[in-house]
Amino acid sequence: MNILKHLIYPPIFMNDDKLRKHFANKWIVITGASSGIGEALTLRLIGVQANLYLIARNEEKLMALCHKAKNNGCKADYCAIDLRQRNQLATLCSRLREQLPSVSYLFCNAGKSINRTILDSIDRMHDFDRTMDLNYRSAVALSLALIPALKRAKGKIVYTSSVSSLYPTFPGWSAYHSSKCAANIWFKTARKEFNKLLVKVQIAYMPLVHTPMSDKNKRYRNLPAYSADEGACILLRLAMSNRFSYKPWWAFGV
Ligand SMILES: NC(=O)c1ccc[n+]([C@@H]2O[C@H](COP(=O)([O-])OP(=O)(O)OC[C@H]3O[C@@H](n4cnc5c(N)ncnc54)[C@H](OP(=O)(O)O)[C@@H]3O)[C@@H](O)[C@H]2O)c1
Repeated sequence: MNILKHLIYPPIFMNDDKLRKHFANKWIVITGASSGIGEALTLRLIGVQANLYLIARNEEKLMALCHKAKNNGCKADYCAIDLRQRNQLATLCSRLREQLPSVSYLFCNAGKSINRTILDSIDRMHDFDRTMDLNYRSAVALSLALIPALKRAKGKIVYTSSVSSLYPTFPGWSAYHSSKCAANIWFKTARKEFNKLLVKVQIAYMPLVHTPMSDKNKRYRNLPAYSADEGACILLRLAMSNRFSYKPWWAFGV
């Protein structure tokens, strides 16, 4: 199992000095900061004195992370919000515009997956609305709100997508994959349009990562996968590079 894990998920190393050089004292906005990949990303950035604005629903978790950040010499703030609620999201966008005049990185990482066939969703239109509102719409809204601040800092937007959105369609994943594919197209287009603003856009086509989200699915729980910290390192390495996207090596060509 270990050999298989190393082959499919080669270890990801991270040099803290390099991280510090890139991220220390810069303002970084992270959605989905309360758990899994986003929480691991937050902890890595706290370790190198980045300034953080954290977004998710779990207020207790965000508050604790902000406390830890401030104790470590970072500036930090948070907003506990359900990103699917359009009014709350609009208020957050206005607040961010006022509060953060310059943002170096926006990590659009909050997400939810749903595994349910279309035929089992006949009375569940809300599944499609919720995945679209979170995985696509909120990422677009926050990117639009932060364009001026990102432009000022010559900043970057990093979207956490899924490698599965690059593969042929698979029964049960219509809601999740549709929302991730919509975001893929939006961010690929934004990449071209924002070039002239000197704002870079990047997509991480993430493979399986053990997090509370993926581990809910019994089939994934015992499969080899990256850890949440390795997932965070994938995002950080991408953000430090000039590449447009990250894909695991075995997904090249798709
Ligand atoms: N894990 C994998 O195998 C995998 C693979 C490919 C892509 N991804 C992507 O990676 C990203 C992070 O997922 P994860 O695996 O780290 O899952 P996770 O541990 O469940 O974290 C998801 C994050 O999104 C936040 N979130 C969920 N619903 C929200 C809502 N309605 N409003 C605001 N925030 C919300 C959660 O915070 P609250 O619950 O506090 O709101 C949490 O911080 C997602 O975009 C996911 O699609 C994951």
